[in-house]
Amino acid sequence: MNFALSPSAIFREMAAHDGSFQLFCSVAAKGEAQGGWENDRIASRTMDPLLAAKIARHGADEHKHGRLFGALLRKRGLDAIEVPADADYCMQLEEAGIGLSHARLRQDRPLTDEEILRYLVHSRVTEQRAFEEITQQEEVFRGDPELGKAVSLIARDEVEHLAYCHDELLRFREEGHGAFIDDLLHEYAKVEIRTYRDVSIAVMTRMGRLLGWSPLKQRVLRLGIHCLYWMERLWTWRRMTVLRPSQRSNPMGTPASA
Ligand SMILES: [Fe+2]
Ligand SMILES: [Fe+2]
Repeated sequence: MNFALSPSAIFREMAAHDGSFQLFCSVAAKGEAQGGWENDRIASRTMDPLLAAKIARHGADEHKHGRLFGALLRKRGLDAIEVPADADYCMQLEEAGIGLSHARLRQDRPLTDEEILRYLVHSRVTEQRAFEEITQQEEVFRGDPELGKAVSLIARDEVEHLAYCHDELLRFREEGHGAFIDDLLHEYAKVEIRTYRDVSIAVMTRMGRLLGWSPLKQRVLRLGIHCLYWMERLWTWRRMTVLRPSQRSNPMGTPASA
């Protein structure tokens, strides 16, 4: 019986089977493409041209990530499948009320400072998750000529995304928005860890069905996800609420804005 439970064993098992690989890449591609769409809309409604250019570049990166996962599927001769609602991280976050809604992003009027801050705090929290997840996948798939190469390309971008969120929020903090930003960081981090737990369980349950995991293995993994949630809720959630100046020079800035 295959009962390996480490994250790297689970990732390898997922990548070795077409059905679970298809689910993994479809979930990832949908999340990235949706991030791309959101950033495009936000960039076109942002009045500050330097910030708008960074958000537009963020959007272009997320579209590229979506295409990379789509290409991985095609190389295996697989199509993207529809992502179940409970496994859709972006939509679950929107339903939980954080960030800017799709309804708002379909409207043409410019974003207010408060809305820009909601976007940046949402990105600060979710890009932290993206950075941690992709860094873990980079470790697991190092040496894999296709999956390894794609995740390390994405990992390089996620570092930049996280860095510019820190820098932009610090700039707004200096302009007097500190209390609002801190309250929002606390609120959004708590929502994110809860949503991440629920989406992880939804994805894991489907993986388990596709890979024929025993009920015991599924129960143990579910327990692991709950333990991780409680560790985050009690201690590590605060990592998502701190702001540090990035070590990079003008992350996501174009040479003209450097
Ligand atoms: Fe991404
Ligand atoms: Fe990102």
